[in-house]
This record gives sequence, C-alpha cells and structure tokens, in this order.
Amino acid sequence: MSTIQPAIRVTDLKKSYGSHEAVSGLSFEVAKGEVFGLLGPNGAGKTTTVEILEGYRARTAGEVEVLGLDPGKRPRELREQVGIVLQSSALYVNLTVREALSHFASLYPTPRDVEETIALVGLEGKEDSRSRTLSGGQQRRLDLALALIGDPELLFLDEPTTGFDPQARRAAWETIRSLRALGTTIVLTTHYLDEAQALADRVAIIKDGKVVAEGTPEDIGGAKAHRSRVSWRDEHGALQSVDTDMPTKLLNELTGEALAAGREMADLKVSRPSLEDVYLDLTSETVDESV
Ligand SMILES: Nc1ncnc2c1ncn2[C@@H]1O[C@H](COP(=O)(O)OP(=O)(O)OP(=O)(O)O)[C@@H](O)[C@H]1O
Ligand SMILES: [Mg+2]
Repeated sequence: MSTIQPAIRVTDLKKSYGSHEAVSGLSFEVAKGEVFGLLGPNGAGKTTTVEILEGYRARTAGEVEVLGLDPGKRPRELREQVGIVLQSSALYVNLTVREALSHFASLYPTPRDVEETIALVGLEGKEDSRSRTLSGGQQRRLDLALALIGDPELLFLDEPTTGFDPQARRAAWETIRSLRALGTTIVLTTHYLDEAQALADRVAIIKDGKVVAEGTPEDIGGAKAHRSRVSWRDEHGALQSVDTDMPTKLLNELTGEALAAGREMADLKVSRPSLEDVYLDLTSETVDESV
C-alpha cells in the first residue's frame, strides 16, 4: 500500500435501514486522480455508499475518510472541494439554468465560469430556461454542470449519464476524461458497463452491500476474464459460445467439424468477455464459485 494518502478510504462500512442491512462491510480505497467505478445491481448499496461519502447519510458502522476528513462530521472544507451529482435531484425547478449555476458558483471559493460550464455540458441555448421545463436528459446535464461548477478536486457522479442520448453520453465521457487529465478524482456509479470500461481506472462490483470483485475493467474477474470466447450461430440460427484458454485448438476442432459436415459457422467470432459479461457472471444469482 502506498504511503500517499488516498482520496477516499472506506473500511468495513455498514449501513442499516431498520433491520435491513443495505451496506454490509464495504472496504475500498480510491487514489488521488483516479476514476473509480462502483457497479452493481439495483439496490446493491451504491447510492447509500456514495451518499455516506458525501456526508448526506449517516453510517451505522465503519471508518470513512474523504480527502483526509470524516464526511460524517460534515466539515466545511469538504463541501468546498467536492462536487456531486445525486442519483435524483429536482431541487431548483424554478431557477433558470444560469441562475442555478450562478447560485452554486457563489458557494465555492474558486468556481468555474458559468458560461464555460454551460458549454461543457452542452446546454447552450437553454441558459434562460427554468429547469423544470428541461427535458430529462437536459436536467441531467444541468445536474452534471452543478457538480462541475465549483471546480472540485473530487467528484461524485451517481449515474451521471442516465437518460443521456448517445451523443450527450459521449460528450460527458469526454468531459470526464478531461477532468481526469486535470487530476480530478472521480467516483462514478453507472449501469452502463461500456461507460465504466471507457472511463474507470478501477471498478468495484457490489452486490448485497458487499464487494464481490475489484480491479481494472480489463482484469476484473480474474483468469476467467482472460479467456477467449468463441461464438457463432448454429444451423438453427441460435448463438453458441464457448470460453477457452486455447482458442487456436478450439477453433481448429470446431471449424474442422463444421467443414466435415458441410456446415457454415455464421457470425464466427473470437473475443474476450466484456466487462458486461464478467459483471453478469459475478452478479447473477448462481455465482460460479470455481472462478
Ligand atoms: N432511505 C432509505 N430507507 C430505507 N431503505 C433504503 C433507503 N435508501 C435505500 N434503501 C435500501 O437500501 C438498499 C440499497 O439502496 P441504494 O439506493 O444504495 O442502492 P443502489 O445500489 O444505489 O441501487 P440503484 O442501482 O437502483 O440506484 C435497497 O435495498 C434500498 O431499498
Ligand atoms: Mg443508486
């Protein structure tokens, strides 16, 4: 473990709502300047965890350190250094885009320029619209703008691109990449695994309030994720796939059989399991313990 202080350190975090334990002993660290993805099914405990780190929820047990501070004590310095996209927010419905951003800018010591931030999230032309009149995706862009306006050192993005059209999602990815290049630490939750793969340096997959896997998007899932997947359509058009450590041998056998039988292997492809494949494998009800 490096001696440099991480941006976030979570040790054995627990959170119960009544008798229901939503977070059951989470531990992870996020290095400064890292993009860290929290993945997991609905109800896994992602928002609960993120909101504890933001100081929005009290924890039941465990240690949490954010930029060296305890968010549970709601220290002012932390508020000034952190930007947040909540999973659901409809706070400033009667303010225009420009008014909401100007208001938030005034809360930070060194805010980003309002017009620049509007351009950054692609809300040009909507500056004077009240936020309640924005479309769902435009509201989400405003949420992202509100998180960026303080020019924070640390960003929490809880499903920041949900509802974005494909262009807006790619534009948000570019924004997140450029923030990373500037050294911003980013904690991102998403259900879009291509997004996690594109943006995150490391991801943790959470299920039932526990980390079930952690690592880079490429390496998560261990050796299994390094296998090749050979897929093709059989004579009935059904998709078949086999995972193997020896794709050459397998391909030779499969194509040999097909040639001998005079069959075509339509859509024949060799690929590596995507993060999505690994995710589905790890979070499905019948977890394969042989991994
Ligand atoms: N305020 C609350 N009171 C009671 N239970 C809650 C509360 N907030 C969340 N929960 C429960 O805690 C669990 C974790 O919820 P959480 O919102 O953290 O999940 P999530 O991983 O963010 O899911 P999603 O992907 O759907 O956003 C769920 O079972 C949820 O019902
Ligand atoms: Mg959530």
